[in-house]
Amino acid sequence: MKDKVTIFDTTLRDGEQAPGASMTIHEKVRIARQLVKLNAGVIEAGFPISSPAQFEAVASIVRDVQGPVICALARALENDVHAAGKSLSGGERTRIHTFIATSDIHIDAKFGSDRYGKTLPEKRRNVVRMAREAVQLARTYTDDIEFSTEDAGRTDHGFLCEVIAAAIEEGATTINIPDTTGYCTPTEYARMFEAVRKGVRSTKNVVLSTHCHDDLGFAVANSIAAVRAGARQIECTINGIGERAGNAALEEVVMALRVRHEQFGVDTDIEATHLAETSRMVSVATGFPVPPNKAIVGRNAFSHEAGIHQHGVLKRRDTYEIMQAEDVGQTSEQIRLGRHSGRHGFFSRLKRMGLHVDDSRKDTLYQLFVRLADRKKEIHDADLIHLVQGNAEHAVLQHYRLDNLSVTVATGKRPKAEVEVFSVAAEKRLTAQGTGDGPVDAVYRAINHALGSSRKLESYSIRSVSEGTGAIGEVTVLIRESGAFFRGQAQNTDVIRASADAYIDALNNLETWRSDEENMTFVGNGIMSSFEGGVA
Ligand code: KIV
Ligand code: ZN
Repeated sequence: MKDKVTIFDTTLRDGEQAPGASMTIHEKVRIARQLVKLNAGVIEAGFPISSPAQFEAVASIVRDVQGPVICALARALENDVHAAGKSLSGGERTRIHTFIATSDIHIDAKFGSDRYGKTLPEKRRNVVRMAREAVQLARTYTDDIEFSTEDAGRTDHGFLCEVIAAAIEEGATTINIPDTTGYCTPTEYARMFEAVRKGVRSTKNVVLSTHCHDDLGFAVANSIAAVRAGARQIECTINGIGERAGNAALEEVVMALRVRHEQFGVDTDIEATHLAETSRMVSVATGFPVPPNKAIVGRNAFSHEAGIHQHGVLKRRDTYEIMQAEDVGQTSEQIRLGRHSGRHGFFSRLKRMGLHVDDSRKDTLYQLFVRLADRKKEIHDADLIHLVQGNAEHAVLQHYRLDNLSVTVATGKRPKAEVEVFSVAAEKRLTAQGTGDGPVDAVYRAINHALGSSRKLESYSIRSVSEGTGAIGEVTVLIRESGAFFRGQAQNTDVIRASADAYIDALNNLETWRSDEENMTFVGNGIMSSFEGGVA
C-alpha cells in the first residue's frame, strides 16, 4: 500500500462553512496560493451551486492557482454537477466531488417525499441511483471524481458498501467516507474503513479518504485511525475551522504522521515550515483567532514558562519538546518569561541577550522581575532591557497609547479625526488630524500623521462578538514590516475606537519586535527572536 497520504485541504469550502468565517474571493485566492506553498495535494475551492460568489471563487482559483488538484463540491444533483463542472472549466487538474447522504436519519429527513420511494429500501435504491447518475454526469467534465457518503459515520455498513460499490463502478476514483456529525470513536471509524475494504473489493483501485468533524474532539484521532485502516487521503482544514466544532486540523494530522512516523509508516508531502504562516493567514482572513495553546500553530506551542520546564529545555531541548518550532515555521523562542518563570530561565535569557548583571544585583533584579510579571502577562526582551537598566516602569508601558480620539462625520463632508497618541520613546503626547474616505480611514491617517508615518494596512476585518445594536465589534488589522506581519486586535462597542485601538496594538507589536530585533543584532546569533514577531 502507498506510503504517501494526500492532503485534501477544505479550508475554503468546509472551513468557510464555519459560522462567521466567510472570506472574500480575493482572500480565497491568496489562501489558495499559500496552499500551493504548503504543497497541499488537493484544494477544495468551494461549492459552486450555492452562490454566484462561490462559483466565481472556484473559477478564480482555477485561473490563478497551478499545482494542486482544484476541486469543486456538488450534491448528487444534475444542476450541482453542471455548476461544479463549469466552474472548473479551463483548469489543468480538476476534480468534481459529489456526495449524497446515506444514513437512515439523513435519508428520512432529506428524501422524505414519496417521490423518492415509500419505504426505506425504496429510498435507499433511489440514493444508489442518484449516486450513479451524479458520478456518470461528473465524468463528462473530468476523470477525477470523488464520491462521498454523507453521514457515513451513522450509516449501516451493508448499505454503505452497496453505495460505494456503485459509485466505483461508475468511475469514482476517490471514495470519501465522512464522519459528518463527529459521532464516531477512533475504533469505530477505523472499523468502518475495514468493513468497506472487505465488503467492496474494487476499493483496491481507488483512494479511500477520511473526512472528520470535531464534535466530540475526535477529528484528528479519527483521521489517523482511518489512515491506519487504509485511508490514503485526509480531508482537513487549516486551524481545524469548519462546520460547528470544525474539521480535523491540517497542521495536527500532518505533524502527527511526521513526528510519529515509526507508528504509522506514512507521510504527507506538506512543506511543514509554511504551517505557521498559513495558520496566521487563515486566522486573519476569517477573523478567527488561533488559541495560544493550539497544537502546532498556537503561539505558546513551543514556549515554556514554568521554571522546571525552562531549566530542562535549556539543558536539553528534547526534555519537553517533541518537535522543533522551526519545523513548522514558528519562531524558536523557547523561553517565555512570565509569572511562573524561575530564576534560571530569567537569568539565562538575560545572558543570551548579552545583558550582564553583577551577582550583588541579582536578588533585587529577580524580585523586580517577579513583581513586573505579576502585572504583565508576558515579559518581552524590551521589558528586560528596561529592568536591567533600572527603568522598570517603562517596561509596563507600551510604545504607544491612544489617549484621545474624536471623529466628526457629517453628510456631504469628508469624515475628520483628531487623535492624541502618547509615545514612550519620545516621552510626549503627539496630536494630529486626518480626513479620509470613511471615519476609520480618517482615524488611521490621523494616527499616521501623529507618528510621522505613511504606513498602509495589509488587511482590516471587523466582526460582531455579541448581539443587538450595542454589540461589541472586534477589529483585527494586519500591518507588514520587512516581510513580517503584525496583527493588532481590539474590541469595543464603539467600532471606530476599536479600529483605532487595533491599529495602535499592531504598531506596539511591531515596535516590540523591532526592539527585540535590535537586541538580536547587538548580541549576534545568541538570542532567540520574540514571539511578537510571529503575529499569532
Ligand atoms: O461533512 C461532510 O459530510 C461533508 C461532505 C460534503 C463531504 O462536508
Ligand atoms: Zn464536512
